[in-house]
Amino acid sequence: MQLIKTIKKMKDISCYLKKKEFSLGFVPTMGYLHEGHSSLAARSKKQCDITVLSIFVNPAQFGPGEDYEKYPRDLERDKRIAKEAGVDYIFYPSAEEMYGSRYGTFITVKGLGDIMCGKFRPGHFDGVSTVVAKLLNIVSPDKAYFGQKDYQQTIIIRKMVSDLNLKPEIIVCPIVREPDGLAMSSRNKYLNPNERKNATILYRSLEEAAANIKLAWKYLDGNIKPAGTKTSGINLNEIKKRATDRLLENEVVSEVDYFEIRNAENLEEIKDLDVFYSDNPKAGIVIASAIRMGGTRLIDNMII
Ligand SMILES: Nc1ncnc2c1ncn2[C@@H]1O[C@H](COP(=O)(O)OP(=O)(O)O)[C@@H](O)[C@H]1O
Ligand SMILES: [Mg+2]
Repeated sequence: MQLIKTIKKMKDISCYLKKKEFSLGFVPTMGYLHEGHSSLAARSKKQCDITVLSIFVNPAQFGPGEDYEKYPRDLERDKRIAKEAGVDYIFYPSAEEMYGSRYGTFITVKGLGDIMCGKFRPGHFDGVSTVVAKLLNIVSPDKAYFGQKDYQQTIIIRKMVSDLNLKPEIIVCPIVREPDGLAMSSRNKYLNPNERKNATILYRSLEEAAANIKLAWKYLDGNIKPAGTKTSGINLNEIKKRATDRLLENEVVSEVDYFEIRNAENLEEIKDLDVFYSDNPKAGIVIASAIRMGGTRLIDNMII
């Protein structure tokens, strides 16, 4: 496994691999690796000849007052985990290498970056789209791997790749969870023992909402309801309110940024399930939420 720090070297290696006709898989990360990241690398290793994993804490996606400075960083630990996961190259550029001092080009994916997480983190998704576009141009992979944990991010990246005719196929991998259901995340490190113990509430609130929707939707025995079947008039606002209240009842949840139920393909809001399913018989639903526990922001989602 090799550590690459410059854009030029990374481009040269990518070019060389292309000439050798190796297929290239790419896993962008901000480091402090965990099993979620390893699962993306493992999928890449399975599907591609060579796997590149980038570690870059991207200043452009942090807002003022967010945790850019204190974001956990541990290169030696990351190298160990990446090597175990079968990564061939770590791309590890500095902020100076990526943005220099006169950087000026940013990508906005319209309509998708200012809802859900974007509402609470203005500019965040422009920072994400911009750095991902740059990384995809530098690494030039055949496939790029993203986690479902950041669901809105996957929709935005897919849209950007399609709109800008970028090359790679985008592959979204399932959420890797701790045994109690908490989605793995580098930021879980911030949780104190009591917060950590309570953090599973986010997963459980999504499960409960999903169960209520499935029930009302007559999603019996795992079979999708026959066309034309009506739900029992389920009120999605009621489900969202119940989940939010339950989350806020928890002693360590300080804020529920949102708890939303949306079209899994395009993140459009769903007001009425019967109308939604008659208009989009094949579409999935995403239930997504972001909460704060003390200073830590946690996100999670579930697709039905
Ligand atoms: N628990 C998880 N399961 C699957 N993929 C994950 C998980 N956590 C993060 N990822 C994915 O890893 C990539 C890098 O995310 P990063 O921001 O470095 O990690 P985290 O969000 O855990 O701090 C993203 O595509 C993200 O969705
Ligand atoms: Mg993250």
